[in-house]
Amino acid sequence: MNDLQQKIEDAVSHPKNLGEMVGADAVGTAGSPGCGDMLRMWVKFKEDPEGRKIIDRATFQTFGCETAIAVASVATELVAGKTVEEALLMSSNDLSAPLGALPPMKIHCAQLVESALRSALVPSTAPEPVVEAPAQAHSLRDSFKPASDPAQKVQIVFKTPSASA
Ligand code: FES
Repeated sequence: MNDLQQKIEDAVSHPKNLGEMVGADAVGTAGSPGCGDMLRMWVKFKEDPEGRKIIDRATFQTFGCETAIAVASVATELVAGKTVEEALLMSSNDLSAPLGALPPMKIHCAQLVESALRSALVPSTAPEPVVEAPAQAHSLRDSFKPASDPAQKVQIVFKTPSASA
């Protein structure tokens, strides 16, 4: 296992800032048309001692690959304490930097994180998410509408310690 694989495995085993944030000030969702993965990011702001609006914390949920989970984990830590302007200057490379260089086929995983962050920070100018969420949706699970045709229903199975034992 190389250094990148180890860092991704560590981040996936102990993801930081995972889960919906109740009372978030902003939320952004992005989807990858190539692989079908989705990622949602919540952001809470606060004012720093100089009166600047900074990111207090960010959290995420994803139906995504291990790389997307790992990048989102490190990215949510990187953006904490930054102004919106500073966070928007961060590229997908910057957001994934703690993991090391990603192979070409995994660069879009970091771009998914960057897109969700941008969507949260600049909702009016962010690219349209590939999958539209209902207006009241709070979590990714809420984003899926019940299908009237049983053949089109999406079943989401959540892994729990008892289910995976
Ligand atoms: Fe699509 Fe990683 S494979 S986000």
